[in-house]
Amino acid sequence: TKLDLELDTIEKGGYDHFMLKEIFEQPKTILDCLRGRLNAENGTIQVSGIENYLDEISKANRIIIIACGTSWHAGLVAEYIIEETCRIPVEVEYASEFRYRNPIIHPGDMIIAISQSGETADTIVAIEKAKEQGAIIMGIVNVVGSSIARISQTGAYTHAGPEIGVASTKAFTGQLAALMLVAFKIAHHKQTITEERYRELCAELALVPGKVEKILEQNDSIKAIAETLKDSSDALFLGRGYNFPIALEGALKLKEISYIHAEGYPAAEMKHGPIALVDEHLPVIFIATKDIYHEKIVSNMQEIKARKGRVIAVINEGDEITPAIADGVITIPEADEIIAPILNVVPLQLLSYHIGIARGCNVDMPRNLAKSVTVE
Ligand code: AGP
Repeated sequence: TKLDLELDTIEKGGYDHFMLKEIFEQPKTILDCLRGRLNAENGTIQVSGIENYLDEISKANRIIIIACGTSWHAGLVAEYIIEETCRIPVEVEYASEFRYRNPIIHPGDMIIAISQSGETADTIVAIEKAKEQGAIIMGIVNVVGSSIARISQTGAYTHAGPEIGVASTKAFTGQLAALMLVAFKIAHHKQTITEERYRELCAELALVPGKVEKILEQNDSIKAIAETLKDSSDALFLGRGYNFPIALEGALKLKEISYIHAEGYPAAEMKHGPIALVDEHLPVIFIATKDIYHEKIVSNMQEIKARKGRVIAVINEGDEITPAIADGVITIPEADEIIAPILNVVPLQLLSYHIGIARGCNVDMPRNLAKSVTVE
């Protein structure tokens, strides 16, 4: 009825879909995650949820991250960040695989369980298994009081608020913000990063909400690029280093929102087979923001262009090289390479949203999907 429609519009804050509303909420939800924890002025981080285990975490010989889907991609980003800043070996496991293996857990091993809903069956069982063998469980969860939050001994909420869209957007960037806070806090506690680097990372983190705001202003130009991709039957997402997990996340978003088959790959991996896929029909989306790999990823783009592939690139302001090679670019604010993943995913969320809409898909409730997979 008309009233239902009106109620629905109010619930969506005037946006056409919950997914778009939640993408646009990210400056606020990331700020909510940082609030009370990050003090950029004097460069300090306080995560009360992990204070009780700071020594145990710092002494851990190994961290095993357990999650599913988009949360698993957050785990992959965290692997790069924790290894780089805390110098603790990290393994990232699909919860569904981990729970059926006979995993080797040593007492004192740290488990980080990442889950938006806190109710994912595979993740819960995997945690129980690790706990039986003496591991400490840190939960990075969005839903307060959820099962995973309750069975974790320590952890931090992502404070992204209720996420209605089945595809995870603001919860993912909330997970990255929380994981960055935790990693930087542990690294400072262990003194595996200098005071100066700690202050630098705190200052960079504080700039994220404003930079996400700037990216969202590009919504219309991203929609225009989406129009050129909507009839593709396949797509590749390529990134290196911290951006490799973001390539995976971009591919998952496109799959679940528009039903286009998409794969994420480390850009350098293309020459080991997947480049055989490239022809004039295949769009290849590069996450090519400024970092140590930039020169190499530009040559990866040239390899794709040489085979008539279509190149779309997420780049930083001031990059003059890529626009001369790519068929389309999305230019976003630069950030330290450790912080950049939280920015670089936002254009990919909007791209998949607009492609899904252009294809007439139900972006808030894609076919075959449930918001929380509470069954095996
Ligand atoms: C995310 O876009 C997907 N809907 C799905 O992969 C989700 O990330 C996965 O099911 C894990 O859910 P959780 O974070 O609630 O544990």
